[in-house]
Amino acid sequence: MDTLKPFHIICEDIFKIYKIEDLEVVALRGLDLKVRQGEVVAIVGASGSGKSTLLNILAGYDHPSAGSIFVGTRNLLQMHSKDIEEYRRSEVGFIWQQTNRNLFPYLTAIENVRLPMMLTNEAEESRDRRASELLDLVGLSDRAKHTPDKLSGGEQQRVAIAVALSNNPKLLLADEPTGELDDKTASEILDLLGVVNRELETTILIVTHDPDIAYKVGRVVLIRDGKTSTEIKRSEQYSSISGISDTNQELEEFVLVDGNGRIQIPRDLLSHSGIQEKAKVILSSDGIIITPNK
Ligand SMILES: Nc1ncnc2c1ncn2[C@@H]1O[C@H](COP(=O)(O)OP(=O)(O)OP(=O)(O)O)[C@@H](O)[C@H]1O
Ligand SMILES: [Mg+2]
Repeated sequence: MDTLKPFHIICEDIFKIYKIEDLEVVALRGLDLKVRQGEVVAIVGASGSGKSTLLNILAGYDHPSAGSIFVGTRNLLQMHSKDIEEYRRSEVGFIWQQTNRNLFPYLTAIENVRLPMMLTNEAEESRDRRASELLDLVGLSDRAKHTPDKLSGGEQQRVAIAVALSNNPKLLLADEPTGELDDKTASEILDLLGVVNRELETTILIVTHDPDIAYKVGRVVLIRDGKTSTEIKRSEQYSSISGISDTNQELEEFVLVDGNGRIQIPRDLLSHSGIQEKAKVILSSDGIIITPNK
């Protein structure tokens, strides 16, 4: 990847606290994340770790409790509802895991793709042409007149990608877009996201439970307890995504250090090291050594 590309997303110290009556749930606790323009990043993490919360915040569907988020030149925390609406309409595309949440059941594939374009000032002729081009891009020109119930799950997600791209977004957010698909269809969808990334230079954040994702994408970020904790990168410079695992790649795993110098040490390392509540931190010529407080 061209490392000189500017950052598209900069999240610093984001907190999200949901309050239901007296109960508070801290969904994000000081999350940091930076993504460059045109990069594909996979987000992984246990159920409840905060992945969807992060995507919803980046999409402007939800508002963080604290922190700072820039997407392009926009400061998401300082936007009013009208600006957020405009941001959602012009800057982001979103794909949900549930295939039936992405499409209107009574509209055909092409009508679903055209629908978000109605909110723009684009001329009808140009809208129609672009909708056809998008269906072509996702390989479904011959299904344009089908309603979702006459499409397979994979085809529905392809249309969902075309819908998500209909506003020409610079950022595509996909929350487990392959969660309901079999392995072969899931791999086709990842390949398609790769085409979108390379042809349209769209930045893509994809949440996935695919255990092989590190061999399919340039960078994987693990969220643990509402915070980015670990990152896995290929040794080779690669910033896109493909449906086929490239197992020739060596993977490098990093523990992330946030802006306040905090790191999360993976639990298995902690338990093997015998470190519990306190540790000694010693500077050595190789770096920092953390030892149990014996
Ligand atoms: N609207 C909400 N109101 C209250 N709590 C919420 C809300 N949305 C999410 N949460 C809580 O926030 C935490 C993070 O949820 P989130 O949906 O982001 O997890 P996730 O990583 O996407 O999980 P999964 O892999 O199961 O989709 C969970 O404990 C969840 O119960
Ligand atoms: Mg989720």
